Amino acid sequence: MRVLSGIQPTGRPHWGNYFGAIRQYIDLQEDNEGFYFIADLHALTTVREPEVLRENVINAALDLLALGLDPSKANLFVQSDIPEVAELTWLLMTGTPMGLLERCHAYKEKKAKGLPADAGLFTYPVLMAADILAYDSQIVPVGVDQVQHIEVCRDLAGSFHHAFGETFVLPKAKTLDVGAKVPGTDGQKMSKSYNNTLPLFGDVKKIRKQIMRIVTDSRPMEDPKDPTDDHLFQLYQLFAGPAEVEAMAAKYRAGGFGYGEIKKAVAEVSEEYFAPARAKREELESDLDTVRDILAEGAKRAREVAASVVDRARRNCGLR
Ligand code: ADP
Ligand code: TRP
Repeated sequence: MRVLSGIQPTGRPHWGNYFGAIRQYIDLQEDNEGFYFIADLHALTTVREPEVLRENVINAALDLLALGLDPSKANLFVQSDIPEVAELTWLLMTGTPMGLLERCHAYKEKKAKGLPADAGLFTYPVLMAADILAYDSQIVPVGVDQVQHIEVCRDLAGSFHHAFGETFVLPKAKTLDVGAKVPGTDGQKMSKSYNNTLPLFGDVKKIRKQIMRIVTDSRPMEDPKDPTDDHLFQLYQLFAGPAEVEAMAAKYRAGGFGYGEIKKAVAEVSEEYFAPARAKREELESDLDTVRDILAEGAKRAREVAASVVDRARRNCGLR
C-alpha cells in the first residue's frame, strides 16, 4: 500500500508526539511504500520567521531520521520541493465549495475566537488534499484531529471526478491508536499548548530535572496505591518491558515508597529508550550534507509521482 503523511515543522517533538504519532508512521514503513514529508507550506500559516522555518525543517528531518525513518525503505522529503502540489491545489480549489471550508475546524475555531484568519488558513485543507492526491496515496495515518481533512480530500477528489472523470486515487484515513493519551508533567494531556511537555531530544540533565518536577498527589508514602490511574505509572509503562511494569505495579500496591523513586525510574528507562535515537541524531547533526541528500533523493522520487498525477489532472480538465 502507498502510505503518506505530513508532519508540520512547528517545534520540537515531545513524548506525546512520539508515542501518539511518529512511532506509528515509522512502523508503517515496513510493509508499505512510505511517502513522508515535512509540511513547510502548511507551517507558513503560523511560522513567519524565515530563519526559524528553515531551522525547523532541518530539525524535523533530523528527528524523523534519528527516530528510525529509514530512507532505504521510505521517501522523506520537504513539501515545498514538489511545486506540482501547489499547482494541484489550484486545480482542486476551482471546485471547492466555500461552505465546505467554512465548516473545517481550524478556521472555524480561529474565527469563533475573533482572531484574524487569512486565506492560507482557510484553504489549508485544499493544500492538504493536494498533498495526498498528488502521490496516489492509499492510506493516510493521522491523529483524530485530522480525519475531517481526509474527508475533505475525498470530497474534493469526488467533485473533480464528477466534472472531469476519474483522475485520483481515493485515500483512506488510518486513525492512530493513541490508546491512553500520554500525560504531561502536570498530569493532563501532554501538549505544547499546556506547557507540560517532555522533549524527545535535548539536554538529558534538564529533562531529568523536568521529570523530577512532575506533579504528584500528596497521599502518604505508606499507603498502597492503585497504579492504573497514576500518570507517573503511565509514563513508566511507555518505556518499561512487561516484567518491569508488573514489578512496578506490585510496588504501588504494596505502598511504602516515595514518588521520587518512581520519577528516577522514569528518567532511567526513558533515557535508555531514547539513547540510540539521541546518538543517531548527534551523528546526523554532524553530517547535514547526508540529510540534505536524503531529502533531495526523496523529493526526486516524490516529484516523479506527483508530475505524472498532475499531468493526468491537467489533461482531464482541459489544460494543455
Ligand atoms: P501538541 O498538542 O503538542 O500541539 P500536536 O497537535 O502537534 O501536539 O500533535 C501531533 C500529533 O501527536 C497528534 O496527531 C497526536 O496524534 C499526537 N499527540 C500529541 N500529544 C499527544 C499526547 N499527549 N498523547 C498522545 N498523542 C499525542
Ligand atoms: N495538517 C497536518 C497536521 O497538522 C499535516 C499535514 C499536511 C498532513 N499535509 C498532510 C497530514 C497530508 C497527512 C497528509 O498534522
